[in-house]
Amino acid sequence: MTELSINGQQHRLELEPETPLLWAIRDTVGLTGTKFGCGIQQCGTCTVLIGKRSVRSCGITVGEVAGKEITTIEGLSGDSRHPVQLAWVEEQVPQCGYCQSGQIMAAVSLLERNPNPTDKEIDRGMLNLCRCGTYPRIKKAIRRAGQMMEKQNA
Ligand code: FES
Ligand code: FES
Repeated sequence: MTELSINGQQHRLELEPETPLLWAIRDTVGLTGTKFGCGIQQCGTCTVLIGKRSVRSCGITVGEVAGKEITTIEGLSGDSRHPVQLAWVEEQVPQCGYCQSGQIMAAVSLLERNPNPTDKEIDRGMLNLCRCGTYPRIKKAIRRAGQMMEKQNA
């Protein structure tokens, strides 16, 4: 039995502690916005937040995150209007879309650490892969989201 807190809800799950978090999120809890890509912590499509830190959920076990606050793309905002989500729409970032929930979660974490990142800091902070090559639009959307968040906090 493992207890997980996901998007503010407690889940008591019949899972061994060594089960990868991604499996629990998608297959047991049924939150399929978090995607499976490589399964070996290389692509970032499975990115979620643990607290405010972005984590590749294929590479961490449920035992390691029990009792911590886990946020998936579904829990980022109640109305899909988190500044990063709004900026993603305004810049029309997604192409096929597969990597995008992971990209958004990584961007949220980056902006938590650094609300006004330079292009180089975005390059260093965003290591998620996008086979469609949406990187230039991701960069623009992160800058736009950072500006929105600054205005909100002013
Ligand atoms: S599926 Fe987790 S990093 Fe690729
Ligand atoms: S939008 Fe297709 S992989 Fe990123």
